[in-house]
Amino acid sequence: MRKDLIAGNWKMHATHLDTIQMVQKLSYRLNDSDHERVDVVVCPPFTALRSAQTVIETDHLRIKLGAQNCHWAESGAYTGEISPAMLAKLSVTYVVVGHSERRHIFGEVDADINRKVKAVFEGAMTPILAVGETEQERADEMTEERVRSQFVAGTTGLTQDQISSLVVAYEPVWAIGTGKTATPEDAQNVCGFIRDLAAESSGNAADHMRILYGGSVNPGNVAAIMAKRDIDGALVGGASLDPDTFASVIRYWV
Ligand code: PGA
Repeated sequence: MRKDLIAGNWKMHATHLDTIQMVQKLSYRLNDSDHERVDVVVCPPFTALRSAQTVIETDHLRIKLGAQNCHWAESGAYTGEISPAMLAKLSVTYVVVGHSERRHIFGEVDADINRKVKAVFEGAMTPILAVGETEQERADEMTEERVRSQFVAGTTGLTQDQISSLVVAYEPVWAIGTGKTATPEDAQNVCGFIRDLAAESSGNAADHMRILYGGSVNPGNVAAIMAKRDIDGALVGGASLDPDTFASVIRYWV
């Protein structure tokens, strides 16, 4: 039985002061039974992680902390980078790796993403590995090929246990921040394809691996997406910035 996971990717929004308010407001809108049903994760910018950690620990909140990226090394001469060990010390438990904005704006390639996925596991955290095709790739009917290459390269060398606990986020690039969402059927097709790929290399571990959909998820479309068999949650950008809206996404069954 896979527990739902809904993660808010705040991208480059929210100062540490905004973050304190956003985490507190979100927590007021969620109750214990919501947390039993869904792992709720917020991924603020690096500069707000310490403040978020303090609120979560002081108020004993059940919201979990995620980061949006990390470097693969534990320390070293990498100006401007943040290591998995640094994140783990802030009680970060999830790290988004290979988000399409990292791939397309900052030129991250699959080999780097694979190193990051492994480093996040070595830091005793859980990677959220993001994959997804561009609009042109979908038009050229290359969706499966693109998703296959990103998933296989991103997960190279992982153990079966790591595949079991891995989170994959299928985010079609054309649906991110555009208001265009994949139909629930299209999203299910690709998420099912990803699970089959994982089963080819890792057998039963694929049944435990959680797969999220991301791309313009909002309170109006989330329930139909969550109803699909191979979709275990959502990675939410814009709609996670307002605590009321994000709480409605999290409580998608209400
Ligand atoms: P969006 O972003 O919900 O604003 O489309 C999703 C993401 O980039 O993770």
